[in-house]
Amino acid sequence: MPAISTSAAALTPSWAQRMWRATDNVLTRALATPLAVDDYLQWFNPLWSSRTIRAEVVAVQRETPSVTTISLRPNAHWPGHRAGQHVLLTVQCDGVRHSRCFTIASGEQEPLLRLTIKAHEQGLVSREVLERMRDGDLVELSAPQGEFLLPEGDGPLLMICGGSGITPMLSMLRTLAAAGQQRDVVLVHYYSTAAEALAVEELAVLAAQWPQLRSLGCCTREAGQGLNGGRFSLAQLQALVPDAAARQWLLCGPAGLMDAVQQASVEAGVAPPLSERFELSPPTVVGEGEVHFARSAVSADGEQGGSLLELAEQAGLTPRYGCRMGICQACKCHVDSGLVRDLRTGEVREVRNESVQICVHAPAGPVQVQL
Ligand code: FES
Repeated sequence: MPAISTSAAALTPSWAQRMWRATDNVLTRALATPLAVDDYLQWFNPLWSSRTIRAEVVAVQRETPSVTTISLRPNAHWPGHRAGQHVLLTVQCDGVRHSRCFTIASGEQEPLLRLTIKAHEQGLVSREVLERMRDGDLVELSAPQGEFLLPEGDGPLLMICGGSGITPMLSMLRTLAAAGQQRDVVLVHYYSTAAEALAVEELAVLAAQWPQLRSLGCCTREAGQGLNGGRFSLAQLQALVPDAAARQWLLCGPAGLMDAVQQASVEAGVAPPLSERFELSPPTVVGEGEVHFARSAVSADGEQGGSLLELAEQAGLTPRYGCRMGICQACKCHVDSGLVRDLRTGEVREVRNESVQICVHAPAGPVQVQL
């Protein structure tokens, strides 16, 4: 019977063997756990990601009792923005991710991204920012979006805004100022009370250095503040800005102001204002037909009413969403087939193997969604 010979060298692993085993362990564990590349990158630096835009909160500044500005340092995936664009901000509230759209307030040239956010009573994300956000927190961002941009050329502008609708205008003014472009601009800003007026001092400083800039603050609820002009009217605008009809109008603010200014532009015979409307909330409609969520094998009755997103949630599903108003695309889902109604336009169309924003579409007949 042959002797079995075992030398000490054969039992003691070499340095290379020990390294291989250590690496092998890490690789084996990595491959065996359901984590993505980003999860491993985050072990080293929470901002690192293979593709996601993440940002660190580097300053939180209370502007008014209900408005906060957060300054963000994004990672290398942030492509830069154009003045007037918005972004989808994702934060964790009680361990659950929530996303909402906010307009960018910083100028295009600024190294940090600034979001000036008004907290609304029912606003999960805006209240999280107001009440809990701190320096060092991490958030996720979408790429910048939107076509509400500073008009090109050097034509005179009339910016009309209300409340936090001033943020895209501030981004535009900050961009122009940093580029040394003293364009002819009148800013008419509506705010409810003096305590809620935004960027008052900054606008006064800018206007002192920029002779072609006029900043007119209109306080709607308090006597003795701002121009005390009350709410917007065409007569008021023509008194404040006699050459309003010769300017390009830009508009951002609450729905009431948006509607009034749109109507005034018709009466004044000027081009429709370039505008961004954030308060669009699709009407809840009674749908028709059965919605089948194929991957979850559950169905909902379209007659319950609501968008495909709301029907999915009522059925116990948790689809991804962001703005819930048709802006961010976060809720897009594959629809195999069906008849859907666009809640923004009322248009009914047949869909077959198409990606659909489920927050702004309701069933108009049987629909099968890959959820
Ligand atoms: S959630 Fe933003 S488009 Fe639907």
